[in-house]
Amino acid sequence: MKKVSLPYDFFRNHFSQNPHLKATSPGRVNIIGEHTDYNGGWVLPAAIDKQAMVLIAKNGLDQHRFYAYDIQEAFEFGLAENPPTNGWEKYAFGVVRSLEKHRDIPQGMDVLITGNVPFGAGLSSSAAIECALALAINDLFELGLDKKTLAYICQKAEHDYVGVKCGIMDQFASLFGQENHAMLLDCQKVDHEYVPLELGEHVLLLCNTNVSHSLASSAYNDRRAACEKGVSILKQYYPNISQLRDVDEQQLNAQRDQLDADILTKCLYVVQENARVIQACQALKDGDLQQLGQLMYASHDGLSNMYDVSCKELDFLVGQARHFDAIIGSRMMGGGFGGCTINIIHKDEVNHFIEKVAPLYESEFGKEMTPIIAQIGNGAQSHHFPS
Ligand code: GLA
Repeated sequence: MKKVSLPYDFFRNHFSQNPHLKATSPGRVNIIGEHTDYNGGWVLPAAIDKQAMVLIAKNGLDQHRFYAYDIQEAFEFGLAENPPTNGWEKYAFGVVRSLEKHRDIPQGMDVLITGNVPFGAGLSSSAAIECALALAINDLFELGLDKKTLAYICQKAEHDYVGVKCGIMDQFASLFGQENHAMLLDCQKVDHEYVPLELGEHVLLLCNTNVSHSLASSAYNDRRAACEKGVSILKQYYPNISQLRDVDEQQLNAQRDQLDADILTKCLYVVQENARVIQACQALKDGDLQQLGQLMYASHDGLSNMYDVSCKELDFLVGQARHFDAIIGSRMMGGGFGGCTINIIHKDEVNHFIEKVAPLYESEFGKEMTPIIAQIGNGAQSHHFPS
């Protein structure tokens, strides 16, 4: 409650008016299916109980005024102005301009952004901010855009204003998440099915490496480009394919000589990971957690050895998990090069694991490992304050 009322009071003082509406949108975990979304494949994410929050009001001006509460930075721009942007400003500006490709925003607004999704941890703090903001603007001005369109708008903001050619997973999970459920999202059809996340005596433990790689966004775009290159070559042999999702391992192997070794390995990882998501979803439905866990380890191996997006800190933590009986599956999560591992661990052994591994991690890398228990929450919501 306190966390909600403090930004509210701050908003009133800073902008000399009350906020009219609040929107929240969460971060996400991903059980399995990494780097498959922009290849039209499947992913199995879930929204978490940590979220971004936006307070917003119309201001009757021709100026949008933003305030990032947690870092105490202000940013404003005119309705038709294209200011230089840095850091978080890119998200705010990007969402506004991407949304304007669909609807006019008729006047200025006052916006406060806050939240508790850790930055740089691979939990999609940026998608959470984008989605909370897009929903807030949509509902404040009654623009009538549905959540799927808002997901595309936020993805476009990342592509055009942040420079990351991301897929749709993070924005979709943030907007559509459902408590205690994962969602099997088909990123080609962009439709989803909720799958109960029933882990019995187990919980989801995230281990944050506290590493965030400064070149992660260019490495991410390089991976995407390698996959697209692979598709453009494979298309000469299989004219009906449009994305790697349309290719199976046999087809890929049949044309292996046509592909450069690096591109072949990257494409093979994606094709195999897609198959793992479907198997993992079935394992979850069957209550076969051991099978789910094995698929998570296999996913990590592929990400580390084939797709080449892990780092020594992530590999170390997954390596530790493999020796710990109470953990049935572990892998790096998200885009890679840092961030968190996701572990399915028996609830009674969480502290034991942390007590054992945190000091080893610290002595190996000279930094802290931060544990986070992920609770699965709902997707984005908005609420009008009574006037
Ligand atoms: C980031 C991107 C997602 C997805 C993952 C990797 O989180 O934003 O679209 O590609 O990396 O699975």
